[in-house]
Amino acid sequence: MIVSPSLLSANFADMRPDLEMINRSEADWLHIDVMDGVFVPNISFGFPVVKCVAKECNKPLDVHLMIVEPQKWINQVRDLGAEIMNVHQEACLHLHSCVQEIHRTGMKAGVTLCPATPVSTLVDIIEDLDLVLLMSVNPGFGGQPFIEHTLKKTGELRRLIEQTGSKAVIEIDGGVNDKTGARLAEAGADALVAGSYIFGKEDAEERIRLLKNL
Ligand code: DX5
Ligand code: ZN
Repeated sequence: MIVSPSLLSANFADMRPDLEMINRSEADWLHIDVMDGVFVPNISFGFPVVKCVAKECNKPLDVHLMIVEPQKWINQVRDLGAEIMNVHQEACLHLHSCVQEIHRTGMKAGVTLCPATPVSTLVDIIEDLDLVLLMSVNPGFGGQPFIEHTLKKTGELRRLIEQTGSKAVIEIDGGVNDKTGARLAEAGADALVAGSYIFGKEDAEERIRLLKNL
């Protein structure tokens, strides 16, 4: 399993210990939640903060933009050195062109679906995607309970990927812990985002290892 701890649950007053833990850990990526207070009812952190984090982190950045018009920020995300740029299907009027632009910069392109957005909306773009991020909570906040319907959606997405021969990785975000993670692994997930399950815990590295082994 690919594991992408979500920085949203880190201690923003003193991020260094959290970043050192991530660097030492078996985490594959660091998940970065950028919010604008418009697309979601919360504001997290912006590019100046992520730039400082990027300098201290030795893991590839998995950037999740919960913002309107994400295509306007492609170059700024590229300049962070991000590996993956995730944009919301619901926030992109011209999703295909946005994915093309992301690829043009050399980044991997991910498309994120809110809980109420069906997998079928990806039928005409799935072959162009490197990753699909399924939200298993409503975006905007960490620490929310897992939405069970995501398990069914994960299976549907797995079938769509198999039918089309797409190379897209299935990543799940929200309410992930050892129990939901195990069920998601069985349903066909390739990658798990986890925030509150990991940060602020004594055994954070062990928890990452546990998710990795699912
Ligand atoms: C929510 C964010 C998530 C969040 C997950 O909008 O996209 O990445 O950090 O937090 P947990 O793992 O606590 O549900
Ligand atoms: Zn996220």
